[in-house]
Amino acid sequence: MSKKLFIETFGCAMNTRDSEHMIAELNKEEPYELTMDASQADLILVNTCSVREKPVQKLFSELGQYKKQKKEGAKIGVTGCTASHLGAQIIQKAPYVDFVLGARNVSKLAHALHTPKAVEIDIDYDESQYAFGEYRSNPLKAYINISIGCDKQCTFCIVPHTRGDEISIPQELILREAQRAVDSGAKELFLLGQNVNNYGRRFSDNSQKSSFTQLLREVSRIDGVERIRFTSPHPLHMDDAFLEEFASNDKICKSMHMPLQSGSTAILHAMKRGYTQEWFLNRAKKLRQMVPNVHISTDIIVAFPGESLEDFEATLDVMREVQFEQIFSFKYSPRPHTAAIHLPNAIEEAEASRRLTQLQALNDELLDTLAAKRVGNRERVLFEELKSDGYVQGRADSNMLIKVKGSEELLGTLRDVEITQAGRVGNVAKLL
Ligand code: SAH
Ligand code: F3S
Repeated sequence: MSKKLFIETFGCAMNTRDSEHMIAELNKEEPYELTMDASQADLILVNTCSVREKPVQKLFSELGQYKKQKKEGAKIGVTGCTASHLGAQIIQKAPYVDFVLGARNVSKLAHALHTPKAVEIDIDYDESQYAFGEYRSNPLKAYINISIGCDKQCTFCIVPHTRGDEISIPQELILREAQRAVDSGAKELFLLGQNVNNYGRRFSDNSQKSSFTQLLREVSRIDGVERIRFTSPHPLHMDDAFLEEFASNDKICKSMHMPLQSGSTAILHAMKRGYTQEWFLNRAKKLRQMVPNVHISTDIIVAFPGESLEDFEATLDVMREVQFEQIFSFKYSPRPHTAAIHLPNAIEEAEASRRLTQLQALNDELLDTLAAKRVGNRERVLFEELKSDGYVQGRADSNMLIKVKGSEELLGTLRDVEITQAGRVGNVAKLL
């Protein structure tokens, strides 16, 4: 009987891909079957995120639960960004944890599993050329890493401390992986990195040269690739060549993540984002001119230290002007090993919550206006999920969720639809 693996994944798409890599690495040694029931598992993996404080606090109570539930002899491993950041402290606080494996040390999983109380958290470790085993949870949509780490030093962000310096994965490895994914049925490729449009800045081997724009062109030439998505690009690196490739390449889905963080130039400066409000608005305007049907999503942090009401208003102004189709908004969370933790003028919790609520109310208002205009629009949808109510759901090129009446023969197909009902999050449509 094969061993059983329970794996819980928090955080970003990169963590989702790391979890797939871990499953593949385990299976290189011996077959593991996935289970949703931790009490059945021989190995419990918790793949953590450390971007905000709350999930980190919750980790230990969760680990305590797994300790109670786990069957005799089962092992517990903590992986991901909190593993990188807390390292051996995790085993000190939760001595029943068998190993700790950092976000940049995924390829050492087998070694950690067989080494009692292993702590593998080297953030200088170079995995950019490592050949991970093959495993994909969704055969239609393939996540493909294009770089590891992040070279930016945004003052609020712990990621450079947990994932280390940025190294691009050689283009030929990415193209080979893309080809393999397509050969096994993928229609959509999702290119992943902390800062994808900085691709090519540094390889382990200095002789190589490439840019994200070039990489997009090469990936789109692969026969059988129908759609390309990527996350996350950085607004600072959205040069004209990149926007032109985005606009003119038919295989690239017309949804762009433009993480704003703040609409105030002063706060952007304190965050070390490297751009101003004007630059951001200029790029968003140019993008909408070049690609009129583009959907723009963003990340916003409210109540960064020193954020005045005027600064906050500047963020709301940018929201009104850009009309983002999707916003992920957060209260600033002070993180260790970041420069912002030393900044004065912290915003009180109650005021931070008030700003977040106000921002989200404006977002709802703006989304309702956008939704009303969407009815009657045509979209192309890749259908992925059979719903229980007689609908089949998928994502449009724009990344919007759309469902139509139908059955499983739609799954895995790309179809044109017309929107009949539009909401803030989901839409109903009819097939054309
Ligand atoms: N380069 C990555 C960033 C990862 S963090 C990407 O663009 O996906 C994802 C988001 O979490 C950031 O864009 C930011 O909005 C938010 N975030 C990061 N650190 C934070 C902090 N200390 N407090 C609140 N939100 C934070
Ligand atoms: Fe974090 Fe900024 Fe990099 S948000 S992941 S340091 S681009």
